[in-house]
Amino acid sequence: MNKAKTIWLNGELIPWEQATVHILTHALHYGTAVFESIRCYETSAGPALFRTREHMQRLLNSAKIYQMKIPYSLDELYAAVKQVVNVNEFKECYVRPIAFYGANEMGVNPRNNPVYVSCIAWEWGAYLGDKGIEKGIRCKISSWQRLDSRMLPVLAKASANYANSVLAKLEAVDAGFDEAIMLNSNGWLCEGSGENLFIVKDGTLLTPPPSAGALVGITMNSVIGIARDMGIPFATRELTREELFLADEAFMTGTAAEITPIREVDGRPIGNNGRGEITTRIQSKFFDIVRGRDKQYYHWLDFL
Ligand SMILES: Cc1ncc(COP(=O)(O)O)c(C=O)c1O
Repeated sequence: MNKAKTIWLNGELIPWEQATVHILTHALHYGTAVFESIRCYETSAGPALFRTREHMQRLLNSAKIYQMKIPYSLDELYAAVKQVVNVNEFKECYVRPIAFYGANEMGVNPRNNPVYVSCIAWEWGAYLGDKGIEKGIRCKISSWQRLDSRMLPVLAKASANYANSVLAKLEAVDAGFDEAIMLNSNGWLCEGSGENLFIVKDGTLLTPPPSAGALVGITMNSVIGIARDMGIPFATRELTREELFLADEAFMTGTAAEITPIREVDGRPIGNNGRGEITTRIQSKFFDIVRGRDKQYYHWLDFL
């Protein structure tokens, strides 16, 4: 890991090595944390964070669902993200804002524990590999069902949800695949362990609706906007696993995964067994946008 010099913790910048927590941290025992994921890209006008306010608003929303009181406003959180990237002089990096219950009292009830907030930055390349971005990845339909909001709130980006993701990811990787795709408890396609899912069929871009139980991704939202602006027909509807097998193209989206084509699912090649034509167009537009090469989308960028 290419670390930063300093980490923002509870309003202060402290050396990376000193950003430690007590072993009785509530979140460590009971999964009581909410977090975000933001990328900062190099542009000709300097480093630019992508859709920071939307990410930090989602952090506040996740905390609200969990009744966790974050002692910072949206503006303060936004400033913290900018500051941690700035002071560490990164041109490109990944930022992980996190809010969690610290250590004071054990037991499931978190309320007597302090809420800590931190923003951590480090250099992180393509999450599913540069080759994945270019040639596509191989996915496995997981035996683990994705959560639904009767079990855990799926609109919250909460650490607890990632226990489910970890199981699916391990199963996929151990079986020789790059990533897992989970169905929801009704058997419809839902999402990857850390990504939203899209397919292309007969020229139309399709993704499962929010009711399928996936996190409402900011990259997903960006892709939908890009497709609309490019005149690519788009719909959300429930999708079956066999529709994925028979798709002309498929790809995953996420802050970490960016836009990663899917070339194979459970041993079945998808489309041309590589990056499809519509995927290529959307992906290349996305990278133009995040790298500041498309003025039309400058409002998605936060220059430092
Ligand atoms: C489970 C899950 N779904 C979808 C996404 C995509 O969300 P976003 O594009 O906002 O990063 C992520 C990544 O954060 C995720 O972890």
